[in-house]
Amino acid sequence: MKIAVLPGDGIGPEIIKEARKVLEVLQKEGLAITLEEAPLGGAAYDQYGSPYPEVTQKLAHEADAVLLGAVGGPAYDDLDRPLRPERGLLAIRKDLNLFANLRPAILYPELANASTLKSEVVSGLDIMIVRELTGDIYFGQPRGIRVNASGEREGFNTMLYAESEVRRIAHVAFGIAMKRNKKLCSVDKANVLETTEFWKEIMIDVAKEYPEVTLSHMYVDNAAMQLVRNPKQFDVMVTGNIFGDILSDEASMLTGSIGMLPSASLDANNKGLYEPSHGSAPDIAGKNLANPLATILSVAMMMRYSFNLEAVAQRIENAVKKVLADGLRTADIFEAGSTKVSCSEMGDAVVAAL
Ligand code: NAD
Ligand code: IPM
Ligand code: MN
Repeated sequence: MKIAVLPGDGIGPEIIKEARKVLEVLQKEGLAITLEEAPLGGAAYDQYGSPYPEVTQKLAHEADAVLLGAVGGPAYDDLDRPLRPERGLLAIRKDLNLFANLRPAILYPELANASTLKSEVVSGLDIMIVRELTGDIYFGQPRGIRVNASGEREGFNTMLYAESEVRRIAHVAFGIAMKRNKKLCSVDKANVLETTEFWKEIMIDVAKEYPEVTLSHMYVDNAAMQLVRNPKQFDVMVTGNIFGDILSDEASMLTGSIGMLPSASLDANNKGLYEPSHGSAPDIAGKNLANPLATILSVAMMMRYSFNLEAVAQRIENAVKKVLADGLRTADIFEAGSTKVSCSEMGDAVVAAL
């Protein structure tokens, strides 16, 4: 099993270093994996003048799975749009057809007090957010900045979903709901936007193939509110690319920190790219302060979804639980009475717990 490792920018290389330690333990024990690195994002622009250069593209296609840190940073924000790190990320997602983004928001009991919400609101939380990842306003054409007929400049994007795109993500979400509590909430803005009115219509149609699943619908503004009012009402949520981007960052705080939220981005055959849901955190980059757990938990998701190694996935998740139970905390989840550790100390502790 060949794993392409793309550290990226900012805290990317720091958190990937810790996730690699976990993979290297498994490798030493005899798991048949090979790791090969390539640049993505700003690091790739610096080296090759492109955020998703051919070397990286080739490796990503050859690999059985991809592990990514994060991309972006202030140094690249003024580049021409096609050269920016974020474009590299969107390009690899599209290139590998990774349309299904799974973002599990799980509260580890030890972190009940790390959340900014009351512990009774979040304790026992276990939500799976299914975010469509290769369509919507992120990719819709036309897009751009232009001068309109009155001579005024305007920016424009196109929110667009083809029926096949909605159907395939619906099947992924219903399939996941079938393996969990058979409750699916589709999030839309069907009261205003035709694209999502259409989304809702397709969800209702696909639901006929999953009679055991209870499908509900919620407007995105209400969903944002309900996530902090009473998040445990949700089991599986399915939504489009932009709403999923926003709601998953919101949901991450229910688990204590964005540094705890892993993700899997899958194609139709479970080839996947695994990355934390957060970004390159320029404000703490280079300081050995980042929480590497979202990245390490993304490795667990890789074992589960791409390699079908459920026991290995659980072993990694249990090692994370163990270090949290031992009171180890990076700064983002620190609370009085716990032991503050650096990014690398956290990685070492997970390895020891493995
Ligand atoms: P961000 O997620 O990078 O950071 C938001 C806040 O969360 C910051 O205060 C940061 O310090 C903190 N944070 C994030 N990850 C953390 C971790 N592991 N441990 C501790 N604290 C953590 O979002 P942003 O500031 O809006 O974006 C910064 C850059 O990252 C931008 O260039 C953006 O485009 C990019 N970005 C990339 C990805 C990705 O690669 N998937 C995702 C989001 C943002
Ligand atoms: C994420 C990020 C990306 C997104 C950006 C960096 C392109 O915010 O992975 O959530 O919006 O999908
Ligand atoms: Mn995001």
